[in-house]
Amino acid sequence: MNQSGKFVAHRPSGCSRPTPGALLDLRRPRDDELPECELLHLFISTRHPACIIRSVAYLEIRDLYKQFTKRAGGLFSSGTETIRAVDGVSLSIEKGEILGLVGESGCGKSTLSRTLMQLTPPTSGSVVLNGEDLSKLPHHEIRKRRLDFQMVFQDPYASLNPRMTVFSTLAEAVRQRHPKLAKQALVERVEALMATCGLDAGTMRKYPHEFSGGQRQRIAIARALAPEPKLVIADEPVSALDVSIQSQILNLLKKLQKDLGLTLIFISHDLGVVHYLADRIAVMYKGKIVESGSAEEVFHHPQNDYTKRLLAAIPKLAEAPAA
Ligand SMILES: Nc1ncnc2c1ncn2[C@@H]1O[C@H](COP(=O)(O)OP(=O)(O)OP(=O)(O)O)[C@@H](O)[C@H]1O
Ligand SMILES: [Mg+2]
Repeated sequence: MNQSGKFVAHRPSGCSRPTPGALLDLRRPRDDELPECELLHLFISTRHPACIIRSVAYLEIRDLYKQFTKRAGGLFSSGTETIRAVDGVSLSIEKGEILGLVGESGCGKSTLSRTLMQLTPPTSGSVVLNGEDLSKLPHHEIRKRRLDFQMVFQDPYASLNPRMTVFSTLAEAVRQRHPKLAKQALVERVEALMATCGLDAGTMRKYPHEFSGGQRQRIAIARALAPEPKLVIADEPVSALDVSIQSQILNLLKKLQKDLGLTLIFISHDLGVVHYLADRIAVMYKGKIVESGSAEEVFHHPQNDYTKRLLAAIPKLAEAPAA
């Protein structure tokens, strides 16, 4: 039950598909063995009621609110209107997990990601990363932590500096983590990043406009990986790309997440795309998480009417005519 007394469909992560980093403890711990830390989640496995799965969340979003106030009515109106872009969101994400955040345009997905990265301050609530409450840290400490979480945006052309070559863009991002790296080591690091993201290192002196949309998104992903983050938030990273290129970028993200052990928050308005990539899905509607659970459960057995509508909106291939 949420704060406003409404029931929302939440399923504990790990019941049907243990998440990476979850500790399986076969004996029931005594109460005095339990850390007081709120990050400890206890739930009894539905398959093995005797087992208690203890998992420590990597990222814990607690009762997060972000409101915007805007002038209501005409130019000369003195009234204001409050927009509840993020309206009491609580979510936890395990290390190495892919969380898919899905919802229609304007439901608050980007505001949630910006708020949890502290790019915009929350109205209330907290964001706890690796046990540390980010909302309580001073600005210079947040800047340091931000190296650990990077973003990939929808429009790679807008997010890349058109006046910087790929090398300059990636070298600048590598230097954020390794400010004293020697030139040769820097070149090697940039080459390795480009190879990891499926780019030809021979093109490192080119500018963004000399690449295709898919290649630009690969550069944006390489830039996000350059400071060696632990958490990547990809905000609609394939929405601006052709369908054939979309799957290449999705597969790249999936491979990188697996190879590098990244924690990934993947944002999309397309439940089908999110289901393809994510371990767990959270469905957002009008600023609230209305349903969350394992990707299979949410996709195949949606509980919430809005999730059912999103599912129905996935384009289906026309049935082949009978031979
Ligand atoms: N800086 C801002 N000032 C005022 N209102 C804002 C601001 N940023 C976002 N909003 C409003 O907050 C709501 C959520 O916007 P947001 O961009 O987070 O949605 P979204 O789910 O990411 O949408 P989309 O899928 O189109 O990217 C919208 O009503 C938007 O108009
Ligand atoms: Mg958005």
